[in-house]
Amino acid sequence: MATNRTFTMLKPDAVENGNIGAILELINTSGFRIVAMKLTQMSRKDAETFYAVHNERPFFGELVEYMTRGPIVAAVLEKDNAVEDFRTLIGATNPAEAAEGTIRKKYAASIGENAVHGSDSDENAAIEAAFHFAGRELF
Ligand code: RTP
Ligand code: MG
Repeated sequence: MATNRTFTMLKPDAVENGNIGAILELINTSGFRIVAMKLTQMSRKDAETFYAVHNERPFFGELVEYMTRGPIVAAVLEKDNAVEDFRTLIGATNPAEAAEGTIRKKYAASIGENAVHGSDSDENAAIEAAFHFAGRELF
């Protein structure tokens, strides 16, 4: 059954560049309700686990360095068709290929440092939300 929740991280570059407020504004005005949210920093083990699906890829080491170098904003978002609609809002992985108006088009610098994460399936959204939040932190 499709759920109406997705999981996001505003990645270290978005936090460093002072873009938390602007990105949250876009998320809110695009119809997502914030169900859970916190500023946190991933350990190396956290990042290796979270992105384990990519552990054979050539960029894995850089990805772990990037995702652990500073705080992130982790959040759970709710909306009809949340996973797909949020992937549309963030845009393509490579900001050079991202559509106008998307978060990555506006705020990402490169394919490696691309400002924001969005879950790619309902199943992964649930796993990723549970990775970062306890049940009592979800509203
Ligand atoms: P995410 O999981 O963070 O939402 O990103 P995505 O689905 O759009 O892209 P994915 O293929 O899952 O890749 C995860 C993250 O790894 C970094 N990456 N670097 N240097 C590269 O070629 C490269 N490719 C991917 C990005 O931070 C990407 O978001
Ligand atoms: Mg992905």
